[in-house]
Amino acid sequence: MHSLKNVLPNGTPDSPAIDWSFMKHYKIAILPGDGIGSEIMAEALKVLDVVERRNPVTFDRMPGRFGASAWFETGNSFPDDTIALCDKAHAILKGPIGLGHEESKVIPIEEQPERGALLPMRRRYDTFANFRPVYLPASLSHFSPLKPEIIGNGVDIMIVRELVGGIYFGKKETGVNDRGLRYAHEVLEYDESLIKRTVDIAFDTAMKRRRLLHNIHKSNVLKSSILWTEIIDETAKEFPDVEVRHMLVDAAATHLCLDPCQFDVMVMENMFGDILSDQAGGILGSLGLMPSACVGPQKAYYEPSHGSAPDIADKNIANPYSMIGSVAMMLDMSFGMTEEAANIWQALQSVFASGYSTSDLSKPGTDCTIVSTGEFGDRVVAAL
Ligand code: IPM
Ligand code: MN
Repeated sequence: MHSLKNVLPNGTPDSPAIDWSFMKHYKIAILPGDGIGSEIMAEALKVLDVVERRNPVTFDRMPGRFGASAWFETGNSFPDDTIALCDKAHAILKGPIGLGHEESKVIPIEEQPERGALLPMRRRYDTFANFRPVYLPASLSHFSPLKPEIIGNGVDIMIVRELVGGIYFGKKETGVNDRGLRYAHEVLEYDESLIKRTVDIAFDTAMKRRRLLHNIHKSNVLKSSILWTEIIDETAKEFPDVEVRHMLVDAAATHLCLDPCQFDVMVMENMFGDILSDQAGGILGSLGLMPSACVGPQKAYYEPSHGSAPDIADKNIANPYSMIGSVAMMLDMSFGMTEEAANIWQALQSVFASGYSTSDLSKPGTDCTIVSTGEFGDRVVAAL
């Protein structure tokens, strides 16, 4: 398809200058991160190129260092120049970060990329609402390790995870106690405003979907879950059309395996969401199928839900779906380009439907053609 920019005539001295004000200009911070990050980001950018070529939009891509790779180069995993470009970006597209268990020991604990870069980014932009779609159409249900009678019709869940509160961000302390034993102490704290804003977003999301919301909690033990559930019940009065079901987090882990199709929107605090969203990725067959959006009052960033998979880095075999899906979420949620987002989802599904997949999804007995990271991205671009 031709770019709109190339088919429009240029202004000439005899004709009035063309009014280009319909063009939208977006600045995007591009942070490939560590491990497989740069490989899957390259495929995401191919897709962004296609969208740019056929819409009245420009994407100013501002690359930045972030994560362990940034630490090795600058001694800081979220360096000042990266902070500056994220500050001025309309949205941030971020790859996975982190090193393997042993490798990360060379970096001081507080500066390891999870504590030194990712959590500070979440805090800086107050990205409290983390959307993690768990989606597998019926046609791809063979990717799931669950039996066809459980997953045969596919699954379509939206996990809404609170992302800037709870035990991740509470006070932490370590030391030696008066019995001479090493101890660690950390606080799980939420105030009602932190809960309310996430819960509101979850109800809004439920209204746009099947109007069914699961409140995932641990009220039989945790006071924070009692408060969380109170706020759910209060907010439910503002959304009489949404059916609310309460489920303990441990039970939810079981139900996700036994009957994932009962869920539509699930809302939960930070750490529950971390754990259950990885489990949900397992139900799809690969964490490579888990994009996400992290949304704050001013800014959002988009990232795969998975880690940097250092064991398969630089082999051109990683699955770029989650990174490309994160582009779709960015176009939809930050730039209002809903149709292009839908096109990308469709293109991603169609590559699988044509019998191609990356190696993370290949299973003995299935006759998929395994493609590389780059080939997968090329096929998505061709489908677009
Ligand atoms: C995620 C990741 C992060 C988290 C890590 C890298 C700190 O696992 O986004 O789910 O625990 O939130
Ligand atoms: Mn996680």
